[in-house]
Amino acid sequence: MYEKFARSDWFRHNRFGMFIHWGLYAIPARGEWVRSPERLTVEDYQPYFDSFNPVDYDPAAWARAAKAAGMKYAVMTAKHHDGFCLFDSRLTDYKSTKTPAGRDLVREYLDAFRAEGLKVGLYYSIIDWHHPDYPHYGDAHHPMRDNPAWRDAKHDFANYLDYMHGQVHELCTQYGCLDIMWFDFSYDDMSAEKWEAGRLVRMIREHQPHVLLDNRLEASGGSFGSLIEEEPTYWSGDFASPEQIIPPRGIVNKAGEPIPWEACVTMNQNWGYSSRDRHFKPASVVVRKLVECVSKNGNLLLNVGPDARGRIPDESLAILAGVGRWMERNSASIYGCLGSPLPKPEWGRYTQNGSTLYAHVFEVPIGPLHLPGVDSEDIAALRLLADGSELEINRNWITESYEGETFIALSPVTHDCCLPDEIDTVVEIRLKS
Ligand code: GLC
Repeated sequence: MYEKFARSDWFRHNRFGMFIHWGLYAIPARGEWVRSPERLTVEDYQPYFDSFNPVDYDPAAWARAAKAAGMKYAVMTAKHHDGFCLFDSRLTDYKSTKTPAGRDLVREYLDAFRAEGLKVGLYYSIIDWHHPDYPHYGDAHHPMRDNPAWRDAKHDFANYLDYMHGQVHELCTQYGCLDIMWFDFSYDDMSAEKWEAGRLVRMIREHQPHVLLDNRLEASGGSFGSLIEEEPTYWSGDFASPEQIIPPRGIVNKAGEPIPWEACVTMNQNWGYSSRDRHFKPASVVVRKLVECVSKNGNLLLNVGPDARGRIPDESLAILAGVGRWMERNSASIYGCLGSPLPKPEWGRYTQNGSTLYAHVFEVPIGPLHLPGVDSEDIAALRLLADGSELEINRNWITESYEGETFIALSPVTHDCCLPDEIDTVVEIRLKS
């Protein structure tokens, strides 16, 4: 399994990362796409550039929060669709070092997260609504797509590609070893060779041979690209990137072989900071979705959207801390784990690491806990993962009629009323085989 994806061994082991969407759009605070639905011109948006000054930006604090949550890698926007560069590109003045911030925000992020031992990735939008040579009128998403003033505008797309490839070259040669380049996104005919993806990936691989690429040089959050074909393209990427969804059964290619995937999910409903969107997923939901991803052989990339001052919202920090409290005791059931071939239990999910099976109990049982698919003769030991305490197989009159089924005596710890950990009580099942 995964022989063709050896480059991503660390990625499939680490399972849990932080996505960071940050930029000028934090000032209007209506999400990172604000220019497109509101048809904002470059001039409408310029006041945000002129005033961008994240005085509270402390990437070391961000890195500590990610690490404490159990995240092992991070991906931050170096440039989003609005074209604003959070790094000191020599190819444009539309960059953080020319705003009142006066800082290379990407370099500080990379330094801080590496210092905490996390793998580091950069998100780079191949779409660019600021660049004069990116298609405007008639494009599917451009803020000026239906503005008649742009109907006859001429664009030198080859010049845009030189700019885009040039910036990726800057990121791949001037910011140290990168672990992930996260491109976003292809649509309509804006895909694959339109981006000159083959030339781009050859350049990337020359400078960053180990870097992982997502699949969006030819796909989007709603498609997989050639990664699921038996002969993927050279630019297909190393993992699929389903967005705001956890695939029903994970993701396999057309030969039925599992491929690496990472679900990217917001904490509220927005990637970029949105002052009105206070609908945050509680830590309990995040933990159970992380378990669901791993139970389907996938990763979770959980997003934070820092505000215009450079602060991760308090709600997000509280959620990260809650997830961290669970991970601190139970991460062995996440890191290095895959799904189990056993049938999904009614009370939660299984994850597995070699001959160790983890039962993630979300729902308190009445009496003994049924372990579907497990042969009691195959159990070498049973432990409550959080404290290492021994549990026992249930062998009494209550279960004697259920021939061939295996049950654990959980009542001593749940008293049939509540789980030791209401978010997810993990039973470690050491199997003989
Ligand atoms: C979508 C959004 C983009 C966001 C990305 C994250 O492509 O358009 O704003 O960065 O999802 O996966």
